[in-house]
Amino acid sequence: MLRKLSAVVLGGVLVAATLAACGGEGSGTSGGGAAAGKDDGKITMGFSQVGAESGWRTANTKSVQESAKEAGIELKFSDAQQKQENQIKAIRTFISQKVDIIAFSPVVESGWDTVLKEAKDAGIPVILTDRAVDSPDKTLYKTFIGSDFVVEGTKAGEWVKKEFASAAGPVNMVELQGNTGAAPAIDRKEGFASVLGSDAKFKMLASQPGDFTRVKGKEVMEAFLRANKDIDLLYAHNDDMGLGAIEAIEAAGKKPGVDIKIVTVDAVKDGMQALADGKINFIVECSPLLGPQLMELAKKVVAGETVPERVLTEETTFTQEQAKAALPERKY
Ligand code: AHR
Repeated sequence: MLRKLSAVVLGGVLVAATLAACGGEGSGTSGGGAAAGKDDGKITMGFSQVGAESGWRTANTKSVQESAKEAGIELKFSDAQQKQENQIKAIRTFISQKVDIIAFSPVVESGWDTVLKEAKDAGIPVILTDRAVDSPDKTLYKTFIGSDFVVEGTKAGEWVKKEFASAAGPVNMVELQGNTGAAPAIDRKEGFASVLGSDAKFKMLASQPGDFTRVKGKEVMEAFLRANKDIDLLYAHNDDMGLGAIEAIEAAGKKPGVDIKIVTVDAVKDGMQALADGKINFIVECSPLLGPQLMELAKKVVAGETVPERVLTEETTFTQEQAKAALPERKY
């Protein structure tokens, strides 16, 4: 994953919050995609969303839809229900509709080259939002806006290391991964392992996909609990799976946050409430509010302006005390 990190460092990178201040100029790829659309001065964006699997995704969809409206961009929105074939179909539909720009959050990292090439050949620029693709051909998209998922996993691992610093060990851990092949699942696992993987004190007993959903998080945690009597820590790749797991832990007669410590990623309201209530111990934030920057970038790309090839989202972490303070103002 250093591969990704170094690509980011070498290319044009911008932190999302500073985009407006910097005017969005960077050393990245240039835009120039207006050729495909109708020439009425109005931008039409085709947006293919992953699905509605989590509170994060719902907040992200809302942010994209509201920001499009505010920016005066006509949005053609399509929900892929966590299926890559639906996203490919939606992108092909957007191409045939001759939209001005396509934005999408790829459900998995691989398998996009053919359809992205079709968009490029049609002269329609593409923006990746939230999740990356693993294509070596960086000319297939103009920019990628979203979080650094490896860093998120690293932050979770660092918290665990500190929290169990005085424990003799072994620290028995289980992990709920996002859907197989998704960038956040691959990267959050990698970031976490980069901190704890080589420390013999920390033992990963089981690690399985919970597909970023509450239902699957609960189901997989039930199986973990049946197979392992002595779990000290759960690392869930998002709040929703952590919340499902909390139900399983309580049903097994244990106290989440006490008998089994829990660290998750996202910091959506329900997760923050569980953190404030002491059922989760630490949350690494992943911001879903990508809409405003996405629309700003889309306008620049369609106008043929240069945009940075990577726009990073600014994020923080929350302890239980910090969650209590932040909850009243939490927007999602
Ligand atoms: O890609 C972002 C991830 O997707 C969020 O962390 C998770 O909740 C969502 O489903």
